Amino acid sequence: MPQRPYEDVRIEGHLIDSLMVPQIMDDVMDLEGEFEILSFDVGRTKTDISRAVFRIYGRDRAHLEELLTAVQEHGAVAVAPEDAVVAAAPADGVFPDDFYSTTNLETFVRIAGEWARVAQPEMDCGVRVTSHREAVAGVDGEAAAGSAAAVRAETAAVRAETAAVRAETVPLNDVRRGERFVVGHHGIRVVPLQRPRESQPFEFMASAVSSEKPKAQIVHEVARLLRRVRDEGRLTIAVVGPAVVHTGSAAQLARLIRAGYIGALFGGNAVATHDIESNLYGTSLGIDMESGMPVPGGHEHHLRAINTIRRCGSIAAAIDQGLLSSGLMHTLVTTGTPFVLAGSIRDDGPLPEVITDVMEAQRVMRSYAQRAGACLMLSTMLHSIATGNLLPAAVHTVCVDINPAVVTKLADRGSFQTIGVVTDVGLFVGQLADELEDGPA
Ligand SMILES: NC(=O)c1ccc[n+]([C@@H]2O[C@H](COP(=O)([O-])OP(=O)(O)OC[C@H]3O[C@@H](n4cnc5c(N)ncnc54)[C@H](O)[C@@H]3O)[C@@H](O)[C@H]2O)c1
Repeated sequence: MPQRPYEDVRIEGHLIDSLMVPQIMDDVMDLEGEFEILSFDVGRTKTDISRAVFRIYGRDRAHLEELLTAVQEHGAVAVAPEDAVVAAAPADGVFPDDFYSTTNLETFVRIAGEWARVAQPEMDCGVRVTSHREAVAGVDGEAAAGSAAAVRAETAAVRAETAAVRAETVPLNDVRRGERFVVGHHGIRVVPLQRPRESQPFEFMASAVSSEKPKAQIVHEVARLLRRVRDEGRLTIAVVGPAVVHTGSAAQLARLIRAGYIGALFGGNAVATHDIESNLYGTSLGIDMESGMPVPGGHEHHLRAINTIRRCGSIAAAIDQGLLSSGLMHTLVTTGTPFVLAGSIRDDGPLPEVITDVMEAQRVMRSYAQRAGACLMLSTMLHSIATGNLLPAAVHTVCVDINPAVVTKLADRGSFQTIGVVTDVGLFVGQLADELEDGPA
């Protein structure tokens, strides 16, 4: 019988608490591969790391490559790693064939024996490799693309320039012809999120989604997180849907902004529109904010609100002209807190600040996402999932929605850093604002 191809990979970290070993075993078995554990040194104390070496067997070389790509996401790296292979993008907006598709985890690429950290961790991107010379001068856009010889030439060229190589994630839309991208899975090291025992403030909530967890305790932990991120001078992004306005909690969110807990806000046309409607007409989606009853002609209010702002030219201009004197958007503008309103197919108007080119909106959101220390997603499926796709896995994320399916979808992104809270957003934001104002500093 011909010998099956195999490769030895090593893995180290909090292998047991972070479930890295069973995840590797599961992936190999799911893909009908086989493994042998060659060594396993378990750390002696709760903070010691453990080390293991696996031998992974595939049916043939292609099957082995598939298995190695899968286990790589759990931090496995070849015992004898090779350099990453790079190839030139054949056209603007097109990755080279067999490009390496990123996770949102911290990642390194190996060039000429050195591991370079990939800047801006983001899922579903490619890894562009440039030397500092190119980063300053711009790469040669005429590079030949596609052939094996071209791939070898590109890889050799990058190796020769190792002095100061830069590796960074790039979304498909931003690719330029001739730029060099990592292809295949060689020379890639992914660092999974790990959970050393007793070191996670969020640990007790790590199973993440439940409508049955004690809300006061969750609010308390989220308040601690927001305080820590603010005190570290980092950004908490609030991703906000119109239910925040409908439930009457926009004023509570504005309190958090004024107190400096929210560094940037993402949302769509609806949250801004209904906030402005509620401040101009006292209704949200035509419902009276005081009585909770529909108001005659109230269904027109949101469109009239949009029209008023469009006539002024911008939300800031409406504030300058004294037309808009309170509310969430007023607080954002007057405190100088940045906000990104991304357009959608459902929008009326939209408000002048809404970025209707969605790729442009994504680009602006991306610049904040990379600086975030925490993210609070409040009752918007569309914008929460969009933001989730942009955030590095290390950003602590809290998703609040009345629908468990939305929360589960978000929490599934990562086991340890995302928590889901199934509750009414109005109650949650109100309690959080109270806790941050009244709770221990
Ligand atoms: N007139 C308009 O211009 C208009 C109107 C509506 C939506 N939109 C746009 O459409 C897009 C999608 O809108 P979206 O984000 O509101 O919809 P969405 O369906 O993506 O998300 C709404 C979420 O809010 C949750 N929710 C509702 N009430 C809640 C409550 N009390 N507590 C907790 N969660 C609650 C729902 O379960 C749902 O997951 C956005 O870009 C928005 O701006 C525009």
